[in-house]
Amino acid sequence: MFDYLTIIMVFKENFSIKRINTFGVDAKSNRYIKISKTSDLINVLKSNDLPIRIVGGGSNVLWTKDFNGLTIHIANKGISIIKETSKKVVVEVQSGENWHDFVIWSINNGYGGLENLSLIPGYVGAAPIQNIGAYGVELADVFISCSTIEINTLKQKQFNYSECNLDYRDSIFKNENKGEYIITSIILVLTKNGFHKLNTDYDEIKSIIGKEMPTPKNISDAVIKIRLSKLPNPEKVGNCGSFFKNPIISKSFFKKLKSRYHEIPNYTSKNDVKIPAAWLIDNLNLKGYRVGDAGIDENHALVLVNYGNASGKEILKLANEIITKVKFVYGIKLIPEVNIW
Ligand code: EPU
Repeated sequence: MFDYLTIIMVFKENFSIKRINTFGVDAKSNRYIKISKTSDLINVLKSNDLPIRIVGGGSNVLWTKDFNGLTIHIANKGISIIKETSKKVVVEVQSGENWHDFVIWSINNGYGGLENLSLIPGYVGAAPIQNIGAYGVELADVFISCSTIEINTLKQKQFNYSECNLDYRDSIFKNENKGEYIITSIILVLTKNGFHKLNTDYDEIKSIIGKEMPTPKNISDAVIKIRLSKLPNPEKVGNCGSFFKNPIISKSFFKKLKSRYHEIPNYTSKNDVKIPAAWLIDNLNLKGYRVGDAGIDENHALVLVNYGNASGKEILKLANEIITKVKFVYGIKLIPEVNIW
């Protein structure tokens, strides 16, 4: 099952990052290296004194300027079952695996738990950092732990579920430990046939699946269909999926907003209310808005796109324009979900 690639490490200088970010913007990284083994990673870090950036699928980052440092492209591969019972499997996945390929591997093996997370771009190692989520499921629902290397000490450290502080598009790796660890693998628990806990709560999924007893594959196929129909394909039009987080506001503030905008969609929990940022932007008639090659997608207002030659700075300028307009009209400050570099 292990499929570790052994590679010859190649350092590149003055490297164009265009092909390693799904926005497809261009900038230069002083140094670049692609790494396929944790031991190589430790050796590179040992001999490096430049600032570093870690890149996986490049699907959640906007480069706005050249980087005077070393970009490390993580490409360690491998999926292995480390424990199995009649109900469950515990799987370890190396961080350089493509997330969607891993989801498809799980579906093809009849395992459940990842089907709603089909077609999320990026690599496995980035998944815990922002606790990826879609259609009512998030990584936290299947997550057990992750292995990391601490950049300063080069020590390997395992973070268990509670240590990661997984929250809505958030974790310890975006907060108190930001930039301090490199995730090398993750461990997840998946269900076996007869023990799946499938989530078909989202109306869009329900309407595709109908009333039959769905399998993880049915749900995965439905999610793929939905995503392909409303989110632009980064291979055709540069983008990073949702650019902003959905804001979470207090119930009292929501009441005021609702009195002005009766139709405002919302996901209400016990203490607060989450509002779709896409609706806030769309309601300002900004869908399809474009400044040069930087734009807001025509089909989904939360997705910023690069129509060809937009720079990271131009996309950031557009993002800031959206933040200003949304703040002015609704009094809500949008926070980017994408990392700005
Ligand atoms: N909406 C609009 N206009 C639009 C698009 C959406 O008004 O152009 C409104 C609709 O009312 C819709 C609501 O916004 O019902 C929510 O839209 P959608 O279901 O597309 O979900 P989202 O809140 O925009 C979140 C995640 C997505 C994930 C979907 C599905 C965030 C920031 N984004 O998007 O994740 O796929 O839910 O669960 O939480 C990503 O992170 O890159 C991503 C795509």
